[in-house]
Amino acid sequence: MKKTTRLLLLMAAMATICWAACTYKKEATAYPATGIACDTSNIRYSVEVTGVLSTNCYPCHASAVAAGSGGGNKLDSYTNLKAYASSGLLLNVIMHTPGYDQMPKNASKLSDCDIAKIRTWIRNGMLNN
Ligand code: HEC
Repeated sequence: MKKTTRLLLLMAAMATICWAACTYKKEATAYPATGIACDTSNIRYSVEVTGVLSTNCYPCHASAVAAGSGGGNKLDSYTNLKAYASSGLLLNVIMHTPGYDQMPKNASKLSDCDIAKIRTWIRNGMLNN
């Protein structure tokens, strides 16, 4: 491997680890320093998907929060989320596809890895696993 490639990989890994450590403790354990920048090999609704959503979306989109904070869109149940995922709306809002609301609202776009996790879950058939 070329020196520059190795340096780039190292920088990517460090950025991922730093991001995970700074934003959400649980994510840090999901990112062991293996050099794998984004592991989408085992994406489960109950762990990876709700992990991303609970940090970034549930503050406005959970059943317990006031209806107004998330425009009445509840994402904290499998059935609800699956409906948003099947229609394509979920992926479009997190990918900031032009013409769609950009989520999370008034915050930075999710990391590429978090988006990849959601996309993988959808592609794998939106299992309730
Ligand atoms: C700070 C509060 C807030 C956060 C955090 C947030 N949203 Fe929203 N979301 C809203 C509001 C308010 C609306 C209603 C539309 C609007 O005002 O833009 C909305 C609308 C939506 C919609 C419906 C869009 C439509 O066209 O009907 C989806 C889907 C959605 N959000 C998904 C998400 C996802 C996924 C996340 C996390 C990655 C997220 N939101 C994070 C506040 C939030």
